[in-house]
Amino acid sequence: MTNATSQFSDMRTIYLETFGCQMNELDSELVQDQLTALGYTFQGERATADVVLFNTCSVREQAENKVLSRIGELGVEKIEGREVVIGMLGCLPEREGKKLLGTYPQLDFICGPSELDHLPTMLHNAVAGERLSAVERSALQGNRSRRSAALTAADDNLELLDLARAFNPDHRRSSGKSAYVRITRGCNKFCTYCVVPNTRGAEVHRPPCAIVEECRVLVETGAVEITLLGQTVNHYRYTHDIALNSEGREVPQIGPGLTAFKKPLDSTQRTTTFANLLKRIHDEVPNLLRLRFVTSYPIDFGNDILEVMRDCPRICNYLHVPAQSGSNRILKLMNRGYTVEEYLEFIERARTIIPEVEIAGDIIVGFPTETEEDFEATCDLIRKVQFKNNFVFHYSPRPGTVAIDRFEDDVPRENKRRWLNSILELGAEISGDVHKLYEGKTVEVFVERLSPKETKKAGIELMWESGKVQLSGRTQGDLICVFDVDSKEEANMLMGCVVPVKITSSAPLLLQGTLQTSLLVK
Ligand code: 5AD
Ligand code: SF4
Repeated sequence: MTNATSQFSDMRTIYLETFGCQMNELDSELVQDQLTALGYTFQGERATADVVLFNTCSVREQAENKVLSRIGELGVEKIEGREVVIGMLGCLPEREGKKLLGTYPQLDFICGPSELDHLPTMLHNAVAGERLSAVERSALQGNRSRRSAALTAADDNLELLDLARAFNPDHRRSSGKSAYVRITRGCNKFCTYCVVPNTRGAEVHRPPCAIVEECRVLVETGAVEITLLGQTVNHYRYTHDIALNSEGREVPQIGPGLTAFKKPLDSTQRTTTFANLLKRIHDEVPNLLRLRFVTSYPIDFGNDILEVMRDCPRICNYLHVPAQSGSNRILKLMNRGYTVEEYLEFIERARTIIPEVEIAGDIIVGFPTETEEDFEATCDLIRKVQFKNNFVFHYSPRPGTVAIDRFEDDVPRENKRRWLNSILELGAEISGDVHKLYEGKTVEVFVERLSPKETKKAGIELMWESGKVQLSGRTQGDLICVFDVDSKEEANMLMGCVVPVKITSSAPLLLQGTLQTSLLVK
């Protein structure tokens, strides 16, 4: 015991590597927050850290293989005598469970996304020499068994973690200027290829007052841009009791579901939809300059949401709304629940209500049975929608999904490769057209970073005047835009601001322009 305690107090540095989506990035922020508060320090060097944590992704095999190869390397180091505690967090342990500890004896503990609140104890015990999985330690609140949309005790604990992070401005991307806020956990869609409903569980929506409060605190502590996160954000819907005083006025809530009074005099029910939530954040957090959200599902996306986007100037005109395929036959096999025609109807509606909206998406190539004809249909869809960009993936059969059981992964690797490259080429061409339309226009750019000094970027010869400093940021529609300023001091001053830039040239993935100093709000 004495031994374990002294060993524990020595093991204080952590290397944390994150794979996968924004949800994982946010979870890693929570982890960093929790463990820093307990006295651990995070460092960028895997080779010298006392503890190595991997926050894993299970969506595609490639992401899993990367982590497993890192675990393999660390296993060799352990055999050679390195003292290091190795923990695996995220979707891979949620999917594989205890089996992982048998296969990889170098692993000290595993922790699924639904039990991050137990991480400090697990880490402590692992450091103290125990080698138990979360499954053995707790009555696993495992996401795989969570099938109801009702809030569970585990959700409440995660809720507290989400809220706690909002009060710590140190662990955010983009020097604290840009932050993620989760609005929904899990997914109910069961697309046949996807592990997410297994690893993240059923859809659970966070209380709106907690979300608004989190946004408010983030902005108060320096956030300029907030991205709301959920697998299907437009499904957000929360029905809750509101407390009313004797005059029928709403009693202010001091926390999720809590009022200043023990017993409200009266109560009524209110439903907050995604459109209501966006409007509330926009109106109740007036110093928030940019509000975004990902990811949208192409059906169940009402005009109410589009109208709020149109009417609220600080909500970005940007939709990430994956089509996955342009073939009705494949969409059906994927269980996506919409046809190409319905997808296009949504895009048309979005563009009618918000003419300047930019659309991004995801495409999977090589889904079982996919033919040249299906692939051509996807190309057609891409041409019709004029996406600003698509993230394109090879189909990857995932254990636990319907597709792996029902369909043979029968598309030759060569076809997958060729189709992926063709879609990237077509995408670049279209993205070039989308970017060209901005030439001559003035756009608002959220300044994110100093641009890396390359003379050529995405096909544009950057006009690099010596002595100038180049900044890079994003438009509301999520297009990358670079521009020059005179000095490092000016660059530092503009970092994290939203500034007007007149676009002078463009390329498939980039806009270049000049800062409109005369339009800058002093
Ligand atoms: N194979 C390939 N791509 C996948 N995605 C999800 N599951 C798979 C899979 N099994 C892609 C989808 C999704 C994105 C996050 O990852 O395009 O929108
Ligand atoms: Fe996966 Fe489909 Fe849910 Fe997206 S909507 S997370 S692809 S199951």
